[in-house]
Amino acid sequence: MNKKKVIAVVAFILVIVVIGIIVGINLARNNNENTSTVQNEASSENQAVGQVANNETNTQENQNNQEGESGKVLVVYFSHTGNTENVANFIHQAVGGDIVKLETEEQYTDNYNDLLDIAQEEKNENARPALSTKIDNIDEYDTIFLGYPIWWGDMPMAIYTFLDEYDLSGKTIAPFVTSGGSGLSGTPSNIQDGEPEANVTEGLSVRDSNSENSQSAVNSWLSEIGF
Ligand SMILES: Cc1cc2nc3c(=O)[nH]c(=O)nc-3n(C[C@H](O)[C@H](O)[C@H](O)COP(=O)(O)O)c2cc1C
Repeated sequence: MNKKKVIAVVAFILVIVVIGIIVGINLARNNNENTSTVQNEASSENQAVGQVANNETNTQENQNNQEGESGKVLVVYFSHTGNTENVANFIHQAVGGDIVKLETEEQYTDNYNDLLDIAQEEKNENARPALSTKIDNIDEYDTIFLGYPIWWGDMPMAIYTFLDEYDLSGKTIAPFVTSGGSGLSGTPSNIQDGEPEANVTEGLSVRDSNSENSQSAVNSWLSEIGF
């Protein structure tokens, strides 16, 4: 083999080796890319699983907020001028569940002096003013927050109608009132008389002038009675 032929063969071998190296590098690079895609996919999958788990946890937490240890909660109240309603709304915001305003079939007058007379007459007669509000699913609730204004040192007679109409045996009843200063006026024991098989908690009393600012009093009371 002459010198020229030897150079040609060596050059050919060199070209083949260089091509081999280039192809090898490309194959290795592709392999790496595929591997990292698989890893990315795997980590997205992990994230997805985490998301579902988190969602499930959140849903569970929401259910706990809704029902909590005290079961399903209903806030039910009577309010003529809105003070008791303010307190009811704070309770509802804090404990969740459902909220219902009790309305009488015959609406009470907005004339204060006339209302005083009507309320006194109803109390003297031990009246049971008819309620237009009906609660079909009251059996579902474990805890009833029951709110009313103090009228003539007592519950409005519409609350007695409510206690007559519904059997709250076995439930927890948490009474809350607003008043011009009389406080609870012993009304939780009247509730207990009407619902002897219920567990009546300590009540909350709020001054009428303070009902809009009663949120912290509401929250303290709620924690005292276990909410
Ligand atoms: C007919 C009637 C009787 C009331 N009797 C009393 C009472 O005996 N003691 C008291 O402190 N406040 C009494 N008040 C004041 C209310 O209890 C108080 O303003 C209450 O916050 C009204 O609640 P509401 O806005 O939810 O209707 C009476 C109010 C009315 C209209």
